[in-house]
Amino acid sequence: MAKMAIFYGSTSGITESIATKLHEHFGEDLCDLYSMEEDFESVDQMLEYDYLLFGCSTWGSGEVQNDWRDPIFEMSIEKPDFTGKTIALFGAGDCVTHGEQFVSALGTLYNHFKELGATLVGEFPLDGYTYEYSFAVRDDKFVGLPIDEVNESDKTDERIASWLEVLKPHFPSASLETA
Ligand SMILES: Cc1cc2nc3c(=O)[nH]c(=O)nc-3n(C[C@H](O)[C@H](O)[C@H](O)COP(=O)(O)O)c2cc1C
Repeated sequence: MAKMAIFYGSTSGITESIATKLHEHFGEDLCDLYSMEEDFESVDQMLEYDYLLFGCSTWGSGEVQNDWRDPIFEMSIEKPDFTGKTIALFGAGDCVTHGEQFVSALGTLYNHFKELGATLVGEFPLDGYTYEYSFAVRDDKFVGLPIDEVNESDKTDERIASWLEVLKPHFPSASLETA
């Protein structure tokens, strides 16, 4: 089994494209890829891995992407134990039209998995982002990697590369030697 896995929820394919880039980076021998819509069956799939990347775009007004809603609700009742799991978050948003809740879903996932005992890594600096409010900000940093393909697609590849550097000390080093 691969050492790590990416689980992503994506309505119009933007977070999916980031997940695919990350998966290509880590390689399929080291990293499995799960669509929350097509591949996710139960939280036991997540608990098979010690290292996890969770992708979730923001919809509604600061809500998690649709495919994450039921799993999060079920986990909040069943309270699976994520102690010892290292988790990093990424997701798409829109800092102009939805700048009042920019990538806020990442903040919801952050609180949720922290509550379940996980170690959350992969904070990202606020520099270069403009928005009104984000629930994804803690201690003057984003809790994960925000991507805005609607307004700032020219920054996406650079942001992913910077984020992979942030992940390096926390994820299996073998996974990142191909960077
Ligand atoms: C109805 C609607 C609501 C949205 N709400 C938010 C929001 O609250 N915060 C945000 O950052 N982006 C919001 N967005 C923007 C999406 O997150 C953005 O288009 C993103 O790229 C979608 O990614 P996905 O294709 O991976 O789902 C919204 C978009 C729509 C159409």
